[in-house]
Parts: sequence; C-alpha cells; structure tokens
Amino acid sequence: SSSSTSGRGAFIVFEGLDRCGKSTQVARLVDKLERDGHKARLQKFPDRTTAIGKMIDAYLQSKAEMDDHAIHLLFAANRWECAAAIRRDLDDGVTVIADRYAFSGIAFSSAKGLPFTFCLPPDTALPLPDITLYLTLPPSVASQRSAFGVERYETVAIQTAVREQFGLVANEVKKRHGDGRWVEVSAEGSIEEVESRIWGLVDSVVNGGVDGTVGELWV
Ligand code: TMP
Ligand code: MG
Repeated sequence: SSSSTSGRGAFIVFEGLDRCGKSTQVARLVDKLERDGHKARLQKFPDRTTAIGKMIDAYLQSKAEMDDHAIHLLFAANRWECAAAIRRDLDDGVTVIADRYAFSGIAFSSAKGLPFTFCLPPDTALPLPDITLYLTLPPSVASQRSAFGVERYETVAIQTAVREQFGLVANEVKKRHGDGRWVEVSAEGSIEEVESRIWGLVDSVVNGGVDGTVGELWV
C-alpha cells in the first residue's frame, strides 16, 4: 500500500497481564500487516535470546534468584540492547510490534513494592511507542488458561497487583505523552473478535497515522 512505503514505520506496543492472549494477537497482527504489503517486525520483551535475556529467563523460571532492583535493571538493559535496532527499523519504514515493553517493567516491579521513582528512570529516552494497546482480561479468567502458573508472577494475587499498577502506568503515559498513546482493549471473546477490535485501532496508525521522528519515552 502506497501510504506505508513512504515515511517511517509505526511503533506499536502490546501490554497486558500474563495469559491474556497478547502473544497470539501480536503474531496475527504481524501476519496481517505483511499480507497487506507492509514491512513489519515482531519484537518480544523480554528478548530471551541475548546474554541478558538468558539471565532474565532463568529468573522467570525460578532457576535463579535476584534482587528486585537488579532484575528490574536487567529488564531495562534488555530493552536498551534492542533500542538501536528498533529505531533503525522504524526509520527504514518497518512497523515494529512489541510484545511487552517498559510498561510491563514498571507494572511488575512496582507490584513488588519498588517505587515509581526507581522504576521509571532506567527506560528514559527509549523509543516512544506511537500507541500502546493494553489488553484487559480479569485475572480470574487468565488463571483458567493452560500453562498459567508455570512462570514466576503467574499467581492471581500478583496479577491482581500488577493490574492495579498498570492503571497507574497508564496515567503516567497519558500525562507525559497524551491520552492517545494508551488505549485499553478488551481481550474477552474469541480470537477473531479480539483481533478485529485491535485492527480497528491499529489500522489508522499503520496507514499514515505517524509522522515526524520517533519520540523518547518519559522525555
Ligand atoms: P512474557 O511472559 O511475556 O515472556 O513475560 C515474562 C514475564 O516477565 C511476565 O510475567 C512479565 C514480566 N516482565 C517484567 O517483570 N518486567 C519487564 O520489563 C518485562 C518486559 C516483563
Ligand atoms: Mg509469560
């Protein structure tokens, strides 16, 4: 499509609780964009393939213990090691779809009791998402899904605390970057129903909705 071949790519982030269907939706969106002739790339966070990502993976599988501050900084470092490639791709006209980002970093760490004043600064000046879609599903529904409970944080108590923190993160994004940067999407219903809700929000962003240079988070 002509509108996607000129100008930079869109940076679209998906956030949500564990087992909300986010990864399924992200994969379907990347497929759809490519079918429509866009250049698109999926970026998963944490990116478990890097050296830092392997430390994070061990922590999440409870094969390693780590101080709350230290693991928070590793999650942020894992984003920084991917940041230049994200900017480069956006400049090259590639739409980058991230499965989690800095907002998960803040929500999960602050749910453990770390203050926002500690949690926000490490991600400062990362590429600013054009839009973040926050998929919502009651923790009680997510907990019924297969494999829930396999990794650290996958308890209803933690997910409930994280959901509360996501509300505060949303306020921070809207305050710093404007209301349009954070959109809530219900993840209830069939895969196709959720997919069409998402497409209704993403369509205008990828088809000519972004202009100018990519911004900087929290700046
Ligand atoms: P995943 O299930 O999407 O791979 O994410 C792994 C877990 O890590 C998930 O419970 C969310 C959590 N997380 C953080 O605690 N901080 C972060 O910065 C990110 C990206 C994820
Ligand atoms: Mg998970």
